Amino acid sequence: KAIERLDYAPPAFWIDSVDLTFDLDPAKTRVLNKMQVRRNSAAAPQALRLLGQELNLARVLVNGAGTSFKIEGDELVLENLPEGDAPFALEIFTTCAPAKNTQLSGLYVSQGTFFTQCEAEGFRRITYFLDRPDVMASYQVLLRASKADYPVLLSNGNLVESGELDDGRHFARWQDPHKKPSYLFALVAGKLVAREQQITSRAGNKHLLQVWVRPGDLGKTEHAMNSLMASIAWDEARFGLTLDLERFMIVATSDFNMGAMENKGLNIFNTKYVLASEATATDTDFANIESVVGHEYFHNWTGNRVTCRDWFQLSLKEGLTVFRDQEFSQDMAGSPSARAVKRIEDVRVLRTAQFPEDAGPMAHPVRPDSYVEINNFYTVTIYEKGAEVVRMQHRLVGREGFARGMKLYFERHDGQAVTCDDFAQAIADANPASPLALHLEQFKRWYSQAGTPHVKAVGQYDADAGRYTLTLSQSCAATPGQPNKLPFVIPVALGLLDAQGKALPLQLDGEATAGSTERTVVLTEESLTLGFVNVTSQPVPSLLRGFSAPVVLDHDYSDTELLTLLAHDGDAFNRWEAGQRLMLRIAINAIADSTITEGANGQIDQNLLPDALVQAMRAVLRHPQLDAAFKELVLTLPSESYIAEQLTQVDPQRVHAVREALRLQLALSLQADWAWAWDEHQASGAYRPDATSSGRRALAGLALAMLCLAARATGDEVWPGKTYQRFKIAANMTDRFNALSALVMSGHELAQPALARFHALFKDDALVLDKWFALQAGSTDRGGNVLPAVKALLKHPDFHIKNPNRARSVIFSYCSANPGAFHRRDAAGYVFWAERVLELDALNPQVAARLARALDRWSKLAEPYRTAAREAIARVAAKADLSNDVREVVTRALAD
Ligand code: ARG
Ligand code: ZN
Repeated sequence: KAIERLDYAPPAFWIDSVDLTFDLDPAKTRVLNKMQVRRNSAAAPQALRLLGQELNLARVLVNGAGTSFKIEGDELVLENLPEGDAPFALEIFTTCAPAKNTQLSGLYVSQGTFFTQCEAEGFRRITYFLDRPDVMASYQVLLRASKADYPVLLSNGNLVESGELDDGRHFARWQDPHKKPSYLFALVAGKLVAREQQITSRAGNKHLLQVWVRPGDLGKTEHAMNSLMASIAWDEARFGLTLDLERFMIVATSDFNMGAMENKGLNIFNTKYVLASEATATDTDFANIESVVGHEYFHNWTGNRVTCRDWFQLSLKEGLTVFRDQEFSQDMAGSPSARAVKRIEDVRVLRTAQFPEDAGPMAHPVRPDSYVEINNFYTVTIYEKGAEVVRMQHRLVGREGFARGMKLYFERHDGQAVTCDDFAQAIADANPASPLALHLEQFKRWYSQAGTPHVKAVGQYDADAGRYTLTLSQSCAATPGQPNKLPFVIPVALGLLDAQGKALPLQLDGEATAGSTERTVVLTEESLTLGFVNVTSQPVPSLLRGFSAPVVLDHDYSDTELLTLLAHDGDAFNRWEAGQRLMLRIAINAIADSTITEGANGQIDQNLLPDALVQAMRAVLRHPQLDAAFKELVLTLPSESYIAEQLTQVDPQRVHAVREALRLQLALSLQADWAWAWDEHQASGAYRPDATSSGRRALAGLALAMLCLAARATGDEVWPGKTYQRFKIAANMTDRFNALSALVMSGHELAQPALARFHALFKDDALVLDKWFALQAGSTDRGGNVLPAVKALLKHPDFHIKNPNRARSVIFSYCSANPGAFHRRDAAGYVFWAERVLELDALNPQVAARLARALDRWSKLAEPYRTAAREAIARVAAKADLSNDVREVVTRALAD
């Protein structure tokens, strides 16, 4: 059943135009689809095979007359079509049942409003079609529905006509001025209201921007609208890309499988990435909204104007668009240190989510070679690693060179459906002398080879010769189907510090003079040796600055060297990284050390961090110049899943116990400093979600969490009391939620009244309730109390498994984000997981398959977890009528 990349063949027919008429009815929607079709003269004459799923077919006409046809599985096969290349009219009439569509793919109803989701293969659930991205057509859409129930009727492009019909019905006709693949089709119909904004572009064109939401949510749309305007301005300024539509609409729905969708001119969003007010959304929510609004808007060029030839090329649009949204967020953040904070956050996602994917059973290249279900390939590899591959190209050709490359890409491919090769070729061709152009074929191994490469760095200092020799060598472990890897092109940005932490000017053997203190070397062979001269004292290398490539850097740093980097590195990323390495090292050693034992309560009552490291952390926390946001990142320990990835065999309870012990030690030994940090970072004045103020709130929040943790150990009641007080009177959701979370995570008895109060306050706000559920399902396990609590939450009147946000807030928060509570010696967490995967699969395979991935890394687990996890996966796999989605995930997992 697998689809292979190399089997790609151009379509046998083109569809030039589509004229769709919808009679919208939740139980039975009628769809009349009139197409202009012609044979692709480049393909051998053959039958037309249109795809359709869960449709009732009523009529097929060719040039107005009946025709013979047959149905083969999901295909409508037409064999007796006119010969020759001339276009013919094909008319297909079907019905579907949107109210019964719990998959949320195709046309569905959410809270009485119609929405569509067509990427990747949802359009075939609306009508029979050549539902593949290389078939691009002009769309005209007529929507008809009850005016009282569906007063607003939206589709892609421009509204060309609207009016009344008999029986209380009305209509709207939309025309999209741009050709598009079917996955970008959208319609929305329901009771919605819009925030509107007229803008004039630099070029002098007028545009109407709209953010459509349910009545009552209008007050929460300002930030999304501001983010949209900022996105439009940014794409013009940075890439010269302007809005190509008179009208650009965003619509929010609370039932959505993913974050958002870039349908041409009619983006459809999960409410989570649209609605925000200071009372209901956290700083993180505000930042995510800016980034997702940007992401979908940037797709208008990278994805829509130039789209993918086939779904193996998904990263062509997703990797590039994630790179663009990351750059947008950095540019919006402003200061160099705020940019570094964003970079660290992005790398943290890559390393905690993508590195494990790349090392597990679902590992796949950025451009996969094969898939069973394309929805399973909307992954951190396609998105985030894909963005890193674009970022490396950016580094290899420079900022200006990259802008030139983008320009050439659009000159060559505007209006086309193309491949990842086409993109890299354009960037390289616009920069013929760049290392990218020089090594293009080899560079493209980043698209074809899965797995995270390791770069080993070995330094040797010869004091007499004043020479520092640095050898970099690369390797990459096998991944499923790829036993041997060829060398990658790896840009390594680096600098050297002296023992006092001063940056040294870099001079390579053979160079006449010393240059700047940082440079990027490009590793193309298995190994590369660099000789730095005029090095007057033993240097500390600062390697892979800014995380210049998505690799694991192995270097045998001494603790002293890492402390030097933590205190002095001019590269903020590596400064943070040095602290993470120090803490990771302690964690890994402690995990392996059998003399460090857990008490009956599962806790380790022992100090694990050496004094020097505690001092260094204090120095960062108290540093007069560093940004609060940066401090918060440095003082946050590596996550349990990141620690687990460093181990060959994982006992999740051991990892949890060690990390908790480290956290407790940081809480207790820095108590006075946390109290200082809390006082020092209180906000005054109006709420603003900018990088500086949100960084201050983040650090204050961490301080409060640490103070409550310390209070739990010491029996102190002052800080929990203060925290509860803050929880009650907080002026914004960030402060309120941080306080609530500090009480819940420290297991204080005030957590219960706080949770009850929070629920009472926000019971009518679905997005806030999601936070309430997620906090409890993600809370610290004490004697196995979380699983019973999660089971109780599933019975809560506000729990609805059909709503993906709510399902994620409880089930995913427990199974995927709470390893200390999920991995139980009695296997009850895994049993729960298997039950939920099967329950969800019957409703929504895409969401079920995401959950199925929570046990991807089962083969790394120590006993008894390993056997129990495998059994749970096998139990899911044993079900006869699984979706393709879940089937693919569990089959691959069992093969690991
Ligand atoms: N293209 C969308 C985005 O990244 C994601 C859509 C994913 N949809 C899906 N069914 N897998 O912006
Ligand atoms: Zn995207």
